[in-house]
Amino acid sequence: MSERTDSTAIYRQLLDPAVRPNPYPIYAQVRAGGPFRIGAAPVVIVSSHADCTAVLRHPHASVDRSLTRVQLETLPMATSATKDAVRQAKPSFLFLDPPDHTRLRRLVSKAFTPRVVAQLEPRISAIVDDTLDRVAETGTFDVVADLAYPLPVTVICELLGVPLADEPQLRQWSSLLARTLDPTSRTAAEHQADPGELQAAGTELNAYFEDLTRRRRGNPGPDLLSELIAAEDAGDTLGHDELISTCALLLIAGHETTVNLISNAILALLRHPEHLAALRADPEQAAGVIEETLRYDPPVQMIPRIAAADMRIGDMDIDRGDLVLMLIAAAQRDPAVFTDPDRFAPTRDNRHLAFGLGAHFCLGAALARLEGRVAVTTFAQRVRSPRCAIDPPPYRAHVNLRGPAAIPLDFAEITPRQ
Ligand code: HEM
Repeated sequence: MSERTDSTAIYRQLLDPAVRPNPYPIYAQVRAGGPFRIGAAPVVIVSSHADCTAVLRHPHASVDRSLTRVQLETLPMATSATKDAVRQAKPSFLFLDPPDHTRLRRLVSKAFTPRVVAQLEPRISAIVDDTLDRVAETGTFDVVADLAYPLPVTVICELLGVPLADEPQLRQWSSLLARTLDPTSRTAAEHQADPGELQAAGTELNAYFEDLTRRRRGNPGPDLLSELIAAEDAGDTLGHDELISTCALLLIAGHETTVNLISNAILALLRHPEHLAALRADPEQAAGVIEETLRYDPPVQMIPRIAAADMRIGDMDIDRGDLVLMLIAAAQRDPAVFTDPDRFAPTRDNRHLAFGLGAHFCLGAALARLEGRVAVTTFAQRVRSPRCAIDPPPYRAHVNLRGPAAIPLDFAEITPRQ
């Protein structure tokens, strides 16, 4: 790909909201051109499966944003409000390298092991059935608002010990803060969230958890927040700022990712009625539907790293301090790895990168998979003759944590729960 003009133009296109319903043709174009630098900026985009895997496994690929040479004010691209976040707040362990990353991740990981998560299945099924019962009563169905959103949000609030009554407020902060994971461009500033608003959301969410922690300290419950408070009180394993940033990370991860997995899976099934019929006939197919959705239309489209030392990826030299943006949504349709990659094929052998790889592999993967499987299975069984009322549906502005804003549905009937 020729330098600067093309790379900046392609980049600008990626951020354009008009592209959000289907960014995949642009990803294919980017992937075919190989890794590239955005103009003269210390920012490199990689998009093949081999290059993304190499970066994710590279010992010099750091998540510590204080190492980046990107200057938000002067470069055509940066990582949004993250720079301010680096200056002001204690980063969550998503943005920490070992040894702090290892220590903090270990503290919460036991709540998310496949065995512990499997025990949540009856509760998850009950939440899904309740939401479909409500739809049966009202007669209208928006897949996002009525199913994909309430399930993961209820589960994460219950796990953490956050009162559901506070959820409407948390939803706004979380949605804004998810935009700090979007890449930005000075040349596409009109498409971006207001940095002041993002910063205020971060401050208010932290204040919320400060207050909840104070209340929970005197009145612990059977929840993760109370466990983390006990760990903080027990000694030096968890500092107070770390407790707050860990809660914020889990709350946002629980609000902004699985909703897109469930929405994208149901959208794919509506567009491929043969797979919906197959799932209705055989609930065992749910795992394949969820894995294929994670590959075909992933809830997290890109993962950033910072080069802690000079690196070489494929033919590309990456300098210390460069930001490397991995377009995993492009890598997951790489024809070098996936046969007929633009086809939704739930039975394919799947080597997707949707949860990342290595030390930062998604902690919530088992939970997201379980929620996704229960949601699509129950949907297939209880919703009769579903049809997308608007296709493509409207999309949220988010570039990275991308997903539909609503999926209005026509349907014949919701059958009673089994
Ligand atoms: C389909 C849903 C989800 C997807 C696609 C997803 C994707 C990802 C990805 C790609 C990463 C790695 C980021 C990196 O390497 O920089 C990650 C990390 C993480 N995810 Fe998820 N996630 C999902 C659901 C969840 C849920 C439900 C939770 C928990 C409530 C969660 C908690 C986390 C945490 C704590 C990390 C940081 C891990 C670390 O830095 O060690 N995720 N997720």
